[in-house]
Formats: sequence, C-alpha cells, structure tokens
Amino acid sequence: MDKGLKKILLLGDTGKVGNAIRSVMSKDFIIIGKNSSNFDPYNFKFIENVVQEEKPEIVINTIAMMGIDPCELDPAKAFLLNAMLPKALAELSAKYNFVLVHFSTDAVFNDSKHDFYTEADTPSPLNIYGATKYSGDCLIQALAARYYIFRISVLFGYTEKRNQFVEKMLQKVDEGAKLLRISKDIISSPSYSIDIASKLKFFLKNNEKYGLYHIANEGKASLFDIMKYIAEYLRKDIVVEEASYLDFPFSGIKNTFTPLKSMKTSPLRPWKEAIEDYCKYLFKVI
Ligand SMILES: NC(=O)c1ccc[n+]([C@@H]2O[C@H](COP(=O)([O-])OP(=O)(O)OC[C@H]3O[C@@H](n4cnc5c(N)ncnc54)[C@H](OP(=O)(O)O)[C@@H]3O)[C@@H](O)[C@H]2O)c1
Repeated sequence: MDKGLKKILLLGDTGKVGNAIRSVMSKDFIIIGKNSSNFDPYNFKFIENVVQEEKPEIVINTIAMMGIDPCELDPAKAFLLNAMLPKALAELSAKYNFVLVHFSTDAVFNDSKHDFYTEADTPSPLNIYGATKYSGDCLIQALAARYYIFRISVLFGYTEKRNQFVEKMLQKVDEGAKLLRISKDIISSPSYSIDIASKLKFFLKNNEKYGLYHIANEGKASLFDIMKYIAEYLRKDIVVEEASYLDFPFSGIKNTFTPLKSMKTSPLRPWKEAIEDYCKYLFKVI
C-alpha cells in the first residue's frame, strides 16, 4: 500500500455512488469499503471502533434509506439512517479530525420555486425522505467543521442491484418490455454517478472550501425525458410513452420539481452529454 495516499473509509461502497467513487478514485486514494455485509450503521460504538481501527483521513457516507415510499413506510428507520447516522459521523469527524463527505438530496425542497434550487434556498421538505435527509444536513453543519455535503438529484450509472429508476427501466427492457410508461411531471437534474464522483475527487484533491454544495449535470429533465433519450441513443426497439406519476401507486407526497444549480461551484457537463457517455458504457456491457 502506498503510504503517500490518503485513506478513505467509504460507507456504502456497493451502491451507485459508492461504485462510481471506487472506479474514479481508487488510483489516488486508499479506499476501505463498507456495506451491509460488514458494517452496522445503527451501532455507533461499532462505527467508532472502525474509525479507531482504520484511522481514515476522509470518511464518505453514501448509506441512506432511499426513496420516498420506503421512508414513508418506516419513518423510524429513515430517521436512524438519514439523520442519526450522519449525526454520529459528524461527532466522530470532530473527535478524530477526519473530513466527512455526505450525500444529500434535492428532495429537501418543496416544489414552490418553479426554478432551479441553489444552496441559498431554504429547504422545506414535503416527505419523510426529505425531512430526514434535511435533518442529516443540519446536524452535520452544526456538529462538524471539516465536511462536504453534496446535494444531488436523480442518478443514472452502474449499479449491480439495478434497484433505482433508470436501471430498473433498463432491466425491464432487457427482460423484453416493449413499452415504458414514464411520468413527464417529475422534473429534476439528472446526473451521472461517474461525474459526481469526479467532482468529489476534484474537491478532495484541491482542498476546496468545506460546506454544502449542489452538484448536478447541467439542465433539467423529466423522468420521461431521461428514458426517452437513453432509449433513442441505445437504439432500443421500444416505445417510451408519457404518463403522470399519479398513474402509479405511491406513498406520501412526491417531489415534482426540484432541479438543482450551484452558486458555489461550476456545473457538471449538460445531462444529455453525460447520458451519451453512460450509453457508451452500456453498449460495452450489453
Ligand atoms: N440515487 C439517487 O438517485 C439519489 C438521488 C439523490 C440523492 N441520493 C443520495 O446519494 C446517496 C447514495 O445513494 P446511492 O444511489 O449510491 O444509494 P444505493 O445505491 O442504494 O447504495 C447504498 C449503499 O449503502 C449501503 N447500505 C444501505 N443500507 C445499509 C445498511 N443498513 N447497512 C450497511 N450498509 C447499507 C448499501 O450496501 P448494500 O449493497 O450491502 O445494501 C450500498 O452500498 C444517498 O445518501 C442518497 O440519499 C441518491
């Protein structure tokens, strides 16, 4: 192991962001990965022991209870993972002096702005997912000094589990679906997990100012726009049809308009360019 490289403890190394971080950053950092097979995010004494043992200079947390529906159904678990875990990590960051990197979400905002949300906008969550993630943001800001909180929006990118929107749709196509009905009325800033990880690498390598940042590929799009563009680019023989999110079962209140922009850092490339790169990757693996 190269002694000159900084050590990262990556919590959630098997997820979408975790995978991208590994693929973009493993040459420049020593990465110790944790996931549900070897990490207990509810046991804060265990977490402190891991920190004492590994002595990381940077801890990246991607563990969360994701999505609006699961959080509405189990708010107590959502609070533990999305607020209490970041709180514990913030306290450990202050105690052991590591840099804490945490990922948050556009779902902290309500839909009233009708424009891009920046770091200057005050969150006002509509659902348990947004409320618990916002709690996590507040606790880190209150308790840690050396932190980056990156608010990101709907992601596309490699994930083995294919359990999130874009990859779930691609899975359906692989299984023979010829028609995808997708909501046109949920609008955000689609982002490529690889671009998010590259930006994080830039922040860490250049010791950028600590704080909260919005990171997204430039522009905004509906879930329908994203899948339509992917299907066209991959030249898939399928029909992508406009629908409303109200056509599908859901819990709680959905966020419908939360595109992100930063006033503090440059945007990632436009979302269509990022999708083209992702499709080039998909061409290689399918
Ligand atoms: N994906 C999006 O569209 C999106 C949008 C906005 C914000 N975000 C935020 O970005 C962050 C990362 O999202 P992601 O898409 O990378 O998530 P993901 O693909 O669901 O990955 C989550 C990671 O956390 C681990 N994990 C989950 N529950 C765990 C538990 N109880 N114990 C131990 N490990 C656990 C998973 O390990 P296993 O594989 O072992 O389960 C996996 O490595 C989250 O904070 C999320 O709120 C994501």
